[in-house]
Amino acid sequence: VDTPALGQLRIRARTSLGVSPDGTIQFIKAESQNPLQDAMDFDKSLKPWEISVIDTFQHQGFTFFFPGFIDTHVHASQYPNAGIFGSSTLLDWLETYTFPLEAGLKDIDHARKIYSRVLDKTLAHGTTTASYYTTIDANSSNLMADICAQRGQRAFIGKVCMDQNSPDYYIESLSDCQHSLQKVVNYIREELKDDKIKPIVTPRFAPTCSKELMTWLGKIAHDQDLHIQTHLSENKNELKWVKELFPECESYSDVYDSYNLLTNKTVLAHCIHLSDKEIDLIKERESGVSHCPISNSSITSGECEVRRLLDHGIKVGLGTDLSGGYDVSILATARQALLVSRHLAMKEVDAKKQEHLKLSVNDVLYLSSLGGAQVLAMDQQVGTFEVGKQFDTQLIDLESAGSRVDVFDWQYTKWTDEGRDIENTKLFEDLLAKWLFTGDDRNTVRVWVGGKQVFPGTK
Ligand code: GUN
Ligand code: FE
Repeated sequence: VDTPALGQLRIRARTSLGVSPDGTIQFIKAESQNPLQDAMDFDKSLKPWEISVIDTFQHQGFTFFFPGFIDTHVHASQYPNAGIFGSSTLLDWLETYTFPLEAGLKDIDHARKIYSRVLDKTLAHGTTTASYYTTIDANSSNLMADICAQRGQRAFIGKVCMDQNSPDYYIESLSDCQHSLQKVVNYIREELKDDKIKPIVTPRFAPTCSKELMTWLGKIAHDQDLHIQTHLSENKNELKWVKELFPECESYSDVYDSYNLLTNKTVLAHCIHLSDKEIDLIKERESGVSHCPISNSSITSGECEVRRLLDHGIKVGLGTDLSGGYDVSILATARQALLVSRHLAMKEVDAKKQEHLKLSVNDVLYLSSLGGAQVLAMDQQVGTFEVGKQFDTQLIDLESAGSRVDVFDWQYTKWTDEGRDIENTKLFEDLLAKWLFTGDDRNTVRVWVGGKQVFPGTK
């Protein structure tokens, strides 16, 4: 099961899929009788003992493969604070909860514990690609890159850049920041050399970055061909502050654009309070938006008008935004995306527009997979099951041990009576809705990245 386009569900029953040792999907064969034979038909030189077969036919009940989730915005360093935000809003939340926590990760043993735990949790929840923010500290950011490589997750490592308007205990000078970012980029590219791990240029957000720093970041992103991630238009007080700091810029988006930080490999988190002109600019630059609905509801930042962004042809993916968001799960984030869209619909008076504003189950599952891949400019590589793409996958079992998902007998009969013919699309859409609304990590029973099993893993 995958979502090749917004709102579109593709179900391929009785299908076998072959993955080469480098993780690439080599064939997808419908109406398969014998996966082993399919592999030998594909490559005549293969001998049966050289082929491993992951066979859904052997899994009884409601099981299916779904592309691995893509978390386009997650602060790994903030994981210990998941759930802890009180009644704060962005700017006081940063001062009270976030900066003190992040500063503590300078202690490498402390960082190791937190980052290892983040990998345990994200992989167990089916996240196969994540775009991480670490902290300002280079050494522990490099450690995070090591841990991701060791655990087999596809990851962007964003050493956080901030050289102004930050507390004395958690700030770098311009030259220290330049030095430590280059250290992380060089470590990942020249020492670690794992093609699943990439550095990402991460100006925290405009208020904490000097004009000199942003100028330099825009330049090295261009010169060294790097992805970029930052926060944009999250909170009303933040907007006011940005206007004061950058009176020469037409809008918040224009601040980043002035420093060449809006590229087709830029991930912009939140984007809640954008003008039409800003939306046009983001579209023009081909930057992507990370929608973080759990965070936006929790620290009461606002409701992102995702349908408006999608209607303008902007790439949108989902972000947990730990720990503005409290949940490590992209499934839970997709559920919240659906609910927030309905809150926006409730405020719309025109009945037709109201219906259009509502994101469907298929829509939010698309955002969780291919949408996220587009935002990270990886849609040729992951996000759906296609020949030539990587096998980044979760095996979902709606009846796994402890599952909260209840599927009643009559529904089950419908499935089995038809010889497990799950091309009964309506039935399958119902099951996916059950997964989205009542499922959790207990339903994610196995996870692969690049064909390699990463969950359950060996520790
Ligand atoms: N804006 C600047 N820093 C942060 C952060 O850590 N989290 C969120 N949600 N917004 C931010
Ligand atoms: Fe964030």
